[in-house]
Amino acid sequence: MTAYAIILAAGQGTRMKSKLYKVLHQVCGKSMVEHVLSQVKELEPDQIVTIVGHGSEKVKETLAGQTEFALQKEQLGTGHAVLQAEKILGQKQGLTIVVCGDTPLFKAATFKQLMAYHQKKRAVATILTAAAPDPTGYGRIIRDQTGDVAKIVEQKDATTQEAAVHEINTGVYCFDNRALFQALHQITNQNAQHEYYLTDVIEIFNRSKQTVAAYKMADFNESMGVNDRVALAQATALMRQRINRRLMENGVTLIDPQTTYIDADVQVGADTVIEPGVVLRGQTVIGRDCLIGAHSQISDSLLADHVTVTASYLEKAQMDYGSDIGPYSHLRPQAKIGPAVHIGNFVEVKKAQIGKGTKVGHLTYVGDATLGQHINVGCGCVFVNYDGVGKHHTNVGDYSFIGSASNMIAPLEIADHAYVAAGSTVTDDVAAHDMAIARGRQVNKKGYYDRYPVAQAAKKAAESEKSKK
Ligand code: UD1
Ligand code: CA
Repeated sequence: MTAYAIILAAGQGTRMKSKLYKVLHQVCGKSMVEHVLSQVKELEPDQIVTIVGHGSEKVKETLAGQTEFALQKEQLGTGHAVLQAEKILGQKQGLTIVVCGDTPLFKAATFKQLMAYHQKKRAVATILTAAAPDPTGYGRIIRDQTGDVAKIVEQKDATTQEAAVHEINTGVYCFDNRALFQALHQITNQNAQHEYYLTDVIEIFNRSKQTVAAYKMADFNESMGVNDRVALAQATALMRQRINRRLMENGVTLIDPQTTYIDADVQVGADTVIEPGVVLRGQTVIGRDCLIGAHSQISDSLLADHVTVTASYLEKAQMDYGSDIGPYSHLRPQAKIGPAVHIGNFVEVKKAQIGKGTKVGHLTYVGDATLGQHINVGCGCVFVNYDGVGKHHTNVGDYSFIGSASNMIAPLEIADHAYVAAGSTVTDDVAAHDMAIARGRQVNKKGYYDRYPVAQAAKKAAESEKSKK
């Protein structure tokens, strides 16, 4: 069967009250139109045409390489939008599925059911409908006495009687491609919104006695159209439930799915436990047997198996097998944490590689550095990477020891088995098996305490304490 798909994504979305183009608003980390396109692609149509208009450059950029585009210069309605695909598809023979870019919850399986039903009915047009608990805002499916679809009436054009109908147009249709474009040339904009409605082709087909069918889907929620921010939040909540459910079915423990926020493309391995308040974003991939502790946020990062994250923030970072981090640490882009590495609390790592078994336990900044294996970095160390103009790199070799409160002034080479004494500010390279000590020698000055005002104050306090007794 030859099949084509048209995605409508040119409408302005005024009800969103946004400078961002409607179909680019995100639902669980992915724009609505990307959700739609990903499901349409599963149908493997011969061609996909996306209708773009306002902000078309951004939409094209988002969907580049996955669909053809047709420009709708003025947004004159959904019928006018589909007509913009005529140059590409108008002469083709086959079936065309039309989907809106603002219905992010549709599943490919539903589209497939619609297409199968359309073929079974040998219809020229098949409408995907649903029973809406509250049909406000949707086009209503008006059936005749025999139960066949007579027409679709938009909310704004509906009589009170029509408005009372709960069966709605989901905005998804299957058409005979040629018949679709022929009918589109006959629609007018004589309606409440002065728009060319795609939905008007139904009446046209009926007038010419061509078969119109309707396939009623079971789950109205899946068909939800997003026109404002309230619906955006509702769609996001439904999508989140779906994502969380899929992960749990695949063996991931979510302690509290209600407060676990995971983007659509995130992958998590079996037997990983995710605690409340966790946010997993973008293209994050998490292995098996990990523990993602409460209130951690992880974006576009790669975690191997047996990794533990405790209340930490990771972005574009990697953690290898058996490593752990937190609480309250921050991995920034290009942080590569090796296997069995321990990153403790209040540590920031940026553009740095940390080798197997190395420990960075407390209050440390590691930026632009390569640390080898089994190094111990003490508390409060700074890899001083920036001189006000450029960034410089530090290397630390295997089995070295960096004492607490040390500054490594880059560029710097500290070899294997080297030692940096606590409190050092290291400016020169350190050779293997050497120790660098770079700090002022301590001098104790006899009786100096009494010279300072603090001594007077202490004396007074002691006296007043005495008089109270
Ligand atoms: C549309 C349907 C309505 C259905 C609802 C389902 C029409 C006339 N109405 O109404 O029956 O119940 O969807 O969600 O079709 N668009 C364009 N160009 C335009 C206008 C719209 O590309 O000139 C695109 C929009 O970007 C959007 C889609 O078409 O993705 C639907 O447009 P929208 O204005 O949201 O239509 P609804 O009023 O929701
Ligand atoms: Ca809509």
